[in-house]
Formats: sequence, structure tokens, C-alpha cells
Amino acid sequence: MSHFPESQNQHLHAFAFSHARFEHSRLKQKPAVIWMTGISASGKSTIADALDIALQEQGRITAIIDGDSVRGGLCRDLGFTDSDRDENIRRVAEVARLMLEAGLIVIVALISPSSASRHYARSIIGNEFFIEVHVDVPLETAEHRDPKGLYKKARAGLIKHFTGIDSHYDVPVFPEVHLDTQALSVAQSVETILDWVTRHDDHT
Ligand code: ADX
Repeated sequence: MSHFPESQNQHLHAFAFSHARFEHSRLKQKPAVIWMTGISASGKSTIADALDIALQEQGRITAIIDGDSVRGGLCRDLGFTDSDRDENIRRVAEVARLMLEAGLIVIVALISPSSASRHYARSIIGNEFFIEVHVDVPLETAEHRDPKGLYKKARAGLIKHFTGIDSHYDVPVFPEVHLDTQALSVAQSVETILDWVTRHDDHT
């Protein structure tokens, strides 16, 4: 994957420096980026919203960055070619990192289909703070749900580069959390992530 800059040294230095601030943060939480990846209609946004509420109920300070919202603003100049998606993911990772440095628990919901781009996001954010969550659903189920009618349009050739149809999705090999959304309710998916966040806290 050639779209990503080679050197991350500046970031790593800035990050190591700012990490020290977390120790004295007024926010009594370990910041994290919960990076939810999965095909369209997998349930990322639904789980992200429910997770956000659950974390806030625990008194945590959170933010959500959702693909559908950034594509209307921060990334509105981007489409769905591989390089545009990589740029979308890069921008979101940079914003998430700034929020992380402010001490927040950041929930990202992006298809983020390529493992290289997710790896790059992890390198921007820092392995210690990056929780990759694969929101896993069979393509047939997502296509059957088709809440926005996009799969139908993609099958008809009206939308190009649609993930799962004529654009690839690299299944995460070692995500921190794997959610089998066929087997789990939204509440159970949220619980599974909350368990991880609690364990993440314990390793401060
Ligand atoms: S990503 O691949 O760059 O991570 P992102 O999560 O921001 O994608 O945007 C995905 C959303 O854009 C989908 O939920 C869907 O509503 C919409 N969309 C429009 N065109 C496409 C396409 N070709 N492939 C996937 N999603 C698309």
C-alpha cells in the first residue's frame, strides 16, 4: 500500500511526550480509540451509539466519529476508491489521535476495509490505545438488511467500488474484539466491548 507516508517519527515523539499528561489528567479514565470496522449495514453505528451511551453512564467522557458524518464534512471531498478511503481513514485517525490526547475515549465507526489502512491508523494512535473491533456479519445478511438500498444499487451497477460487491474487505486477522453479530444482540456486543475497556483501564 503506497498511499501512506513512510515516517511516523514525529508522531511517535509527540505522542510519547503527550502520553505523560495522561498520568495527571483530570479525566479519571484511560483514553482509548475503539476502532470499529465492518462492511456497510454490519451494525457499526448502532453498536457505536449504544456503546457511547453505556460509557457515558459509567461517567466516561467520549466522542464518536462515524463514517457517514465525516463524509458530509471533514472528508466530503473524498469518494470510495482505495486511495480516497485510505485518505478518509488517515484523516479520521489523526482527529481521533487529537481527541485521545485530550483524554477522551473515542469511538470510530468506519468500514476501513483494508488491513493496511487499519494498521496505519493503529500506528498513528499507538498500539497501547487502539482497540480494533471487528463488527462481523455475513455479506448476505448485510445485503438483506440493506437499510439505505445501497447494496441493491451496487448490484445494479449504479454505485461503483461498493465494499463486498466490487471492492474488497480484508477480514481482520487479530482484532482485539470480534463481534459475531449473528449471535450477539446489540446489548451483548456493547457488554463485550465494555469488558475490554475495563481490562484496558486495569493496564494503566
Ligand atoms: S471507508 O471505506 O472509507 O471506511 P466509510 O465508513 O467512511 O467508508 O463510509 C461508508 C458509508 O458510505 C457506508 O455506510 C455507505 O452509507 C456509504 N457509501 C457510499 N458509497 C459507498 C461505497 N462505494 N462503498 C461503501 N460505502 C459506501
